[in-house]
Amino acid sequence: MPQLTWLITATTSGLGESLLNHLITRGDRVIATGRDAERRLAYLKSDSVALLDLDVTSGIAVIEAQIRKAWDIWGGIDVLMNNAGVSNPKSIEEAG
Ligand SMILES: NC(=O)c1ccc[n+]([C@@H]2O[C@H](COP(=O)([O-])OP(=O)(O)OC[C@H]3O[C@@H](n4cnc5c(N)ncnc54)[C@H](OP(=O)(O)O)[C@@H]3O)[C@@H](O)[C@H]2O)c1
Repeated sequence: MPQLTWLITATTSGLGESLLNHLITRGDRVIATGRDAERRLAYLKSDSVALLDLDVTSGIAVIEAQIRKAWDIWGGIDVLMNNAGVSNPKSIEEAG
């Protein structure tokens, strides 16, 4: 399988962190983003893992600047996994 370049939002925990670890073992290249990701995930930085601070609620100018940086790391992005978000689990009765 060809090596893909991924950009994942919210890799600091949960599903994003699990996907990041899976892709590392698969041999893909990952731009791992999140709030304060460059500091929090510094131990993961390698030839195939790049880190970028990205709060998805930042203004458009900040987001565009970070995406431009991300694009320039390996000259493109094959897959965007826009995973950032919050879960608020409820029963069906509570959610209605
Ligand atoms: N788990 C499920 O069963 C389930 C089901 C359906 C959909 N989802 C969706 O899947 C996604 C991940 O779920 P999860 O269970 O892994 O959630 P989680 O364990 O609560 O993790 C949420 C992640 O999102 C990050 N995040 C929150 N706000 C952010 C922001 N403004 N900018 C950047 N990162 C931000 C958090 O970063 P910090 O570490 O900085 O807090 C954390 O890394 C969410 O969008 C959720 O709605 C999950």
